[in-house]
Amino acid sequence: MPNFASRMDGISGSVIRELFKLMADKEIISFGGGNPAAESFPISTIEEITSEILREKGTAILQYGTTEGYMPLRESYIEHIAQPKGINAKVEEVITTTGSTQGIDLALKVFTNPGDVVLVESPTFLGTLQAMRMYQLKCVPVEMDQEGVNIDDLEEKIKQYNPKLFYCIPTFQNPSGKTLGVERRKQIAKLAETYDIVVLEDDPYCDLRYSGEPVPSIKSFDKSGNVILLNSFSKNISPGLRVGTVLAQPAFIKKMTVAKQSSDTHTSNLTQAIVDSFLRRGLLPGHLKSIIPLYAQRLEAMLSGLDKHFPKGFTFTRPEGGLFVWGELPVNIDMPKLLERATKEAKVAFIPGQYFFVDPQTMGQNTMRFNFSGATVEQIQTGLEKLGALVAQAIN
Ligand SMILES: Cc1ncc(COP(=O)(O)O)c(C=O)c1O
Repeated sequence: MPNFASRMDGISGSVIRELFKLMADKEIISFGGGNPAAESFPISTIEEITSEILREKGTAILQYGTTEGYMPLRESYIEHIAQPKGINAKVEEVITTTGSTQGIDLALKVFTNPGDVVLVESPTFLGTLQAMRMYQLKCVPVEMDQEGVNIDDLEEKIKQYNPKLFYCIPTFQNPSGKTLGVERRKQIAKLAETYDIVVLEDDPYCDLRYSGEPVPSIKSFDKSGNVILLNSFSKNISPGLRVGTVLAQPAFIKKMTVAKQSSDTHTSNLTQAIVDSFLRRGLLPGHLKSIIPLYAQRLEAMLSGLDKHFPKGFTFTRPEGGLFVWGELPVNIDMPKLLERATKEAKVAFIPGQYFFVDPQTMGQNTMRFNFSGATVEQIQTGLEKLGALVAQAIN
């Protein structure tokens, strides 16, 4: 057996894969996934758009495209996504990517060397932690409070570790559901400038808002050009299309384009053109309006179920959007074992929160992530009643 590269050391991905095996049972009510609701996909619209694209520009679409992305989509992203969020961008500042996953990968590829320090919110998105491990980076966690990342701790860690980059998910964070307020966003943009570090702002959930007011992105306060904004069409249209965007200063975009060339040449022309047409026809606002009530209802069911069925001392976030609620027990427990009991005895699944921390062996042993988009209101009520009883047993 040939040796694998050292960058693969300790990267198995197996824990979560094992968890998903536990959840494979069809009878299980799952709060474990993170997928958009199946009912949310605009299938017939996409069918119609696809036929039109192939009829009108089939030859160009089925040919190789440019690495920077399908030009009409780069333009429509600026007009329909960036500008309404208060960001004036030029087309040289935008590339399309194969989901935000690729934007994260490209940013790490062009800015980091093995052994570099990167800062992350604690907890943070598992996929990014995995990518950072693959690039052999030292991930240093930054504390979070009720609102999100703690700015004093962030500045302290910047001074202490001289990191290359700070990765954050400021809106409806995965996994915590927390949203950072305007002031802290301004402060992060300022820190990027003061200490000349890259801020990688990953914002795939911003359109899934069910209550409250939208908050401007960190990028909208960026004076230094050190903030990279990642948007994605995975949560507001469909993740299977695999279309995301990077918005950053042209020098960053040029390097990321070179890095993307050797990665996938370019993102699929067909799916980029589908997203472009969806935006140009002005369909996104109406589509969001049509799916938000479903998500809002499920979130409400989850919050009231946690209130009703979970024991005293259990606390949880009350997000205004996104796909996740984050729970904390008053004591550490063997959370993977609780998951095993929950799936076997109660037929309910969740994700132990520890996997969203830099060191799952020592951090987050009292935390759980709940996804509310994949279960019906009735399933959420039933599932939480059963899970709440198991949690009560586990902490007593
Ligand atoms: C915070 C965060 N970033 C990125 C991604 C990946 O998104 P995409 O489908 O655009 O690659 C996800 C998916 O769950 C996510 O939660």
